[in-house]
Amino acid sequence: MGIKKIVTIVGARPQFIKAAPLSKYIAELEEIEEVIVHTGQHYDAEMSDVFFREMKIPAPRYNLAIGGGGHGEMTGRMLEGLERILIKEKPDCVLVYGDTNSTLAGALAAKKMNVKVAHVEAGLRSHNMKMPEEINRILTDRISDFLFCTSAKPVANLEREGVQYWKAKVVVSGDIMKDAVMLYEQHAVAPQQVLLAGERYCLVTVHRAENTDDPVRLKAIFGALKNMAGKEKIVLPVHPRTRDKIREYNIDTAEILLIDPVGYFNMVWLLKNCQVVITDSGGLQKEAYYFGRPCIILRDETEWKELVDNDFSALVGANSAAILDARYNFRFNTDYSSNFYGDGNACSIIVRELTGVKK
Ligand code: UD1
Ligand code: UDP
Repeated sequence: MGIKKIVTIVGARPQFIKAAPLSKYIAELEEIEEVIVHTGQHYDAEMSDVFFREMKIPAPRYNLAIGGGGHGEMTGRMLEGLERILIKEKPDCVLVYGDTNSTLAGALAAKKMNVKVAHVEAGLRSHNMKMPEEINRILTDRISDFLFCTSAKPVANLEREGVQYWKAKVVVSGDIMKDAVMLYEQHAVAPQQVLLAGERYCLVTVHRAENTDDPVRLKAIFGALKNMAGKEKIVLPVHPRTRDKIREYNIDTAEILLIDPVGYFNMVWLLKNCQVVITDSGGLQKEAYYFGRPCIILRDETEWKELVDNDFSALVGANSAAILDARYNFRFNTDYSSNFYGDGNACSIIVRELTGVKK
């Protein structure tokens, strides 16, 4: 018997964006019921509500209002709340996205209750076990029944880890963020905070713990941005975590245009119109590629290896000189005819695999 009732667990910004197209797809199918649970990991209006409103994601039936905390505390409180919800809702399957603490808590709560787990964005690896996301990914993959991969590389990672012995179903669905881009690109709109009519600018985001929690790394990144700001406009929607650290480390951002985090429709506009994307975000690396923009990655390794191997992205870490060198000297690939992460039909592949239902 196919799956008829799905509980989807989201909590952090990228998960709202990934859930949006799939929830829309499911809402159009009479046979399938989806219950959305928000863990409350992200809670500011511009980190959460804006995405539900803009992309018309059905309102979560539950919000655990976890609202920050250490890894153990956050994940533990989520587990407790999720277990209660799963006992009540009795789903056939729990769907989780990506690699946040909400992903791991969702998968673990479900698996301990013998509920099937589906993981979207499975098999990605940075091979850096200091990254909280790497721990979340590996553990989530290991207890998932359905592993939806963006390309062949994550499948190979799972095979190296022995997926054949735990009998999960591995499916290459392509990237669900491409579904989102295709669905919402038409809604792109300029952010109100910035007047950029015809202006050239670099789009920057920084939020990853390895950069924000290390003053040497964060200062080196902002050192490079300050240097660049003398030559071109730098637009940086600031993640709340980074905002706090900029203050704590007393970093000079005077010449950089810092703006509040933006909604997805603003972000799509910023991506479409920028010269280059400079980021440590996972999602933005792919979105830069989808919009034909070069990407400088502020990390020491990446899960999106296809983009680095083919010179669409330059991996520079948090080294000022390397960031500047990539910006002004690196010859990025400009032939975007490759299609590494599928055709933007991940939603239909995932739903068909889980439920047998085809639109
Ligand atoms: C989390 C994910 C990361 C993902 C990112 C997406 C984990 C371990 N990390 O990182 O993989 O890339 O989300 O953005 O799950 N804060 C606010 N308001 C909010 C949200 C966060 O002020 O709405 C502040 C709080 O001080 C919070 C801090 O940001 O403690 C960090 O938030 P948290 O969810 O722990 O980690 P992220 O860095 O957002
Ligand atoms: N994003 C957004 N507004 C912002 C910053 C990011 O809409 O101010 C979107 C971005 O386009 C991408 C997703 O959020 O779709 C990526 O989330 P984030 O960088 O927070 O997390 P990661 O992908 O690194 O896990």
